[in-house]
Amino acid sequence: MTTYDASFRVWRGDTAGGGLKDFTVEVNDGEVVLDIIHRLQATQAPDLAVRWNCKAGKCGSCSAEINGRPRLMCMTRMSVFSRDEVITVTPLRAFPVVRDLVTDVSFNYEKAREIPSFVPPPGVAPGDYRMRQEDVDRPQEFRKCIECFLCQDTCHVVRDHEENKAAFAGPRFLMRIAELDMHPLDAAEEAGLDRKRTAQDEHGLGYCNITKCCTEVCPEQIKITDNALIPLKERAVDRKYDPLVWLGNKIGRRRP
Ligand code: SF4
Ligand code: SF4
Ligand code: FES
Repeated sequence: MTTYDASFRVWRGDTAGGGLKDFTVEVNDGEVVLDIIHRLQATQAPDLAVRWNCKAGKCGSCSAEINGRPRLMCMTRMSVFSRDEVITVTPLRAFPVVRDLVTDVSFNYEKAREIPSFVPPPGVAPGDYRMRQEDVDRPQEFRKCIECFLCQDTCHVVRDHEENKAAFAGPRFLMRIAELDMHPLDAAEEAGLDRKRTAQDEHGLGYCNITKCCTEVCPEQIKITDNALIPLKERAVDRKYDPLVWLGNKIGRRRP
């Protein structure tokens, strides 16, 4: 087994402030960044706060920024860095720090709660739902999401613009709206809920300028921009400029 010493620079601090601290830590073959953070805890910084759970890229809790790039610590192999490189580990920048590498991601849970859930089709009991395989395949990609919030962290709309957070759900939750909107059994529209309009008017779809940064950092390789956000934008625009919808709105508005 090969062993070497790596130079790490880890952010330490809390809500009152903090800064980067230098450490030299042992690295063994096959290890990932989370192993090194655990070794730091075990040998030099027992009070270092870090959130993790599965160490298998499935729980989404070990999100951090490694050399400035949002990544899962448990899925970032040490072998991708050269041995003389200083590796910087900092908390997710778009969310408030709790302590060290742990951030308060409740922004995301608030956004999740704002999105109305699936509306079951009337007159069809669960278990009797029938869908074509191609209709299953499209939203299935989005169901791979592990809610690591790396896409939310990297999106420039909120990353440096706290003021946009109230009006913008972020890629993960715009993708959730897209998933529900393309679900062939979702009866939201019949129930009076226009998901395309709410995406635009209430969840800030228009803020997204399809830079694809969210797609680049997704550990599940979900094509967030191409398969969710762009189709949702197209459907929202189709709806807005559909002459029948326009006429319907006009007539609707004239009603007493
Ligand atoms: S594609 Fe849209 S949602 Fe994704 S990072 Fe860019 S602006 Fe944000
Ligand atoms: S879409 Fe990808 S990056 Fe965003 S929360 Fe889900 S798994 Fe993470
Ligand atoms: S510890 Fe679960 S995704 Fe990294």
